[in-house]
Order: sequence, then C-alpha cells, then structure tokens
Amino acid sequence: MEGLFSHEDIRKTYEELAWHRRSKDIIQEYALNLKDIRDVALEGIDATKAAAVLDLGCGYGFFTEKLTGRLRPGAKIIGIDVVNHSNRQTFLDTVTLMGYSAAFIQGSADMIRDMADASFDLVIASYSLYFFPHLIPQIARVLRSSGIFIVVTHSRYSLQELTSFVPFSMKTAGLQMPEDLRINMLFRSFSLEDGGLQLDPYFRDVERIPYENSLVFPLDRFDACIDYLDTKKHLLLKEVNDVHPGKFDVVLAVLVKTLFDHARAHGKVLITKDDGIFRCRFPVHGRRVA
Ligand SMILES: C[S@@+](CC[C@H](N)C(=O)[O-])C[C@H]1O[C@@H](n2cnc3c(N)ncnc32)[C@H](O)[C@@H]1O
Repeated sequence: MEGLFSHEDIRKTYEELAWHRRSKDIIQEYALNLKDIRDVALEGIDATKAAAVLDLGCGYGFFTEKLTGRLRPGAKIIGIDVVNHSNRQTFLDTVTLMGYSAAFIQGSADMIRDMADASFDLVIASYSLYFFPHLIPQIARVLRSSGIFIVVTHSRYSLQELTSFVPFSMKTAGLQMPEDLRINMLFRSFSLEDGGLQLDPYFRDVERIPYENSLVFPLDRFDACIDYLDTKKHLLLKEVNDVHPGKFDVVLAVLVKTLFDHARAHGKVLITKDDGIFRCRFPVHGRRVA
C-alpha cells in the first residue's frame, strides 16, 4: 500500500546511503540539542529479556545500532524497509557486529499483516511511522503483552522554515502554489503533537517524550544547510516533481537563493527540528484489526 509518497519517491530520498549518513552527520553537527535522541528513547528501558526485535523502516540501522548490549544474548533483529540497495548489507553487518542474529526484508511494512500475533518483544519505528500510521493496530497485534513499541517521530512543525519557502519558490518559478504540501501532510500523519491519539486505542500505556531541537547554520556554513536541503529535496518538492518535473531544478534554485537571502539578512539559517518519542506498553490484544 502506497501512501502520501510513492515507493519511488521514498527510494529517491533514502536509496543513497551516503546521503542518508550525511543528513545524520549534519543534524549532529548543527543541532542545538546535544543529546542523542536514541539515548533519550532508550533511557531507563530494560530490554535484556528481548529476544525478538522488529525495526520497521529500518534504513541502514541507525536506531538498531543503539541496541548493542541491551538485548538478550542471541536475540534476533528483523529489519524491514522498502529500500534495499545498500541498506540491506549495512543493516546485516551492523546487527552481526552487535553479536545478534539479523534478517533484512525488502518490502513494505504492510507485510507485518502476515506475521504471527504476539511474536516480538520490541518493535521500533524510527522516523518512519508517518509513512505507515495505518499499521499501528497491526504493530500492537504482533507485540507481546510484555513488549514495548518505541516510536521516534517529528513534530508537525519540523522543517517549517524550509517548507514555508516552498510555495513562494514555486510561484517565483511560474508555478501555481499548492494549498498544502505533501511533506506537511506526511509530518501531520503521525506527529509528536497528535500521535498519542492514534496510539491510545491500541496500548494501555503511552509515554510521550518531546525532544526540542533546532539546526542552526551560520552564514559561513551555508553549504552544510544546502547539503541538508539536498537530502530532503524530493520530499520537499514532491508537488513540483509530480506535476512539473522539468521545473524541479528551477524551483530548487529559487529555494536556495531565498534561503541564502534569509541567511544574509539574519547571519544564519535556523531550521526547527523538534522531534519526539513515544514508548508504548501493554498492547491491547483481542481487538479486531484491519
Ligand atoms: C527517515 S528514514 C529512517 C530510517 C531509520 N529508521 C532511521 O532512523 O534512520 C525512513 C525509512 O522508512 C522507509 N520506509 C518508508 N516507507 C516505508 C514502508 N511503507 N515500508 C517500509 N519502509 C518504509 C524508508 O525507505 C526509509 O529507509
């Protein structure tokens, strides 16, 4: 099942492992919040009895690698991602190095519909649940009663400085401004602000942990801001790609120029990157799930 973004859009954004890593490095280098969100997500969690772990939208294993030494010896971690490419090998190598057993399945997270009830101790969706929020009931179903579901997600206001310039950039390039951007719809489809309401019917305990953050690029590091934008361009400019692919580079150039003017006027670019974590326990079993 494809949602707001097609698997082809997703592939364009996440296929290039080097890009994905670059994006994470930039976030770490320019973030105001110095805590690693994965450490915040795992703080106080005892997963030493966890033998079966499922990472949905695992990518190359960014979150998984933080589980080192935290699981039961011999635990198995299954990663599912629509994008194969270099994700598969990197994910498998990461888990093997951690001393656990690994499987990577290329495909949509929807495949969990075919997985057995109560078969995982830990399910993770790190920056991915907004692609498949309709699977929350299925996630509760495959989680054991004693298990935990950890979600890392964005605030609906994340990247608002970038998204606010997109309609103007489209207009300047002679295109009609969209009423809403697909990337904003994506962030709203499972966000820090509203995600709790989506989880509540399926878990008896939902803990919400906000993680405030901003990326600040000084004017003399504007190049890093552009690199970051580059890793997000297919999500940010989805409307342009869909309807006027020939204008993609023009709109991107206007967006970069607009950002640069902003950076010159303010001496920096600040991008809101507020995220959040949900830790869900006691899945409600026995509900009919679609
Ligand atoms: C922002 S990345 C996050 C990757 C990794 N979990 C992390 O924290 O770095 C989102 C990932 O979700 C994957 N994805 C998107 N839609 C998916 C779907 N329907 N099923 C499985 N994976 C999906 C993408 O391919 C991408 O690797």
